[in-house]
Amino acid sequence: MSIALAGRNLVLIGFMGSGKSSVGRELAKRWNFRFIDTDAMIRRKYDLSIPDIFAVHGENLFREAEYQALVRLRGISSTVIATGGGIVIQPRNLPLLRGLGPVVWLCADQTTILDRVGKSTHRPMLNQANPEESVAKLLKERAPLYHRTADLRIETGGLTHREVADRIISELEQFRGFSESNSGTAD
Ligand code: S3P
Repeated sequence: MSIALAGRNLVLIGFMGSGKSSVGRELAKRWNFRFIDTDAMIRRKYDLSIPDIFAVHGENLFREAEYQALVRLRGISSTVIATGGGIVIQPRNLPLLRGLGPVVWLCADQTTILDRVGKSTHRPMLNQANPEESVAKLLKERAPLYHRTADLRIETGGLTHREVADRIISELEQFRGFSESNSGTAD
């Protein structure tokens, strides 16, 4: 994985329950950046919850909406962007994600993920007879995709959202160009 310093946003990717939204909000607060969640963009567009979008329109339309959300984000700056866990499954999303700025993968193992979201009722990808099997299967399919897309991987197991944010900041500070362009307030 290489660190791409172009772009002035930070993109968070990772499996359901990896803490993208909470960590993203924390980073945005510290940097005085905007915070955007692609799932929230999609919910607003359809005025429906994510489970209802899946139920009424199907997963394919949701995936198309994810792509369209990334297209709409092109050209933004000073924003932390949290994405849905499946954003990496479409190859056409990868250049869009990477074009926004450095991409950070929030990583957690299967046990941690199941603890966090195993009983979630608002995640259609897990509303299966056997969530453990679903998580195992999806993790196996997606781990290489997260790896391929990310500039940086952060292990989140056992850490609070604030600690994950601290870790991201300290990793990014090693890359002078990034920390210089993001220090202080947003323009
Ligand atoms: C999905 C993850 C969800 C949401 C949708 C599909 C997935 O987002 O985009 O339910 O395919 O992993 P979170 O990762 O924020 O739960």
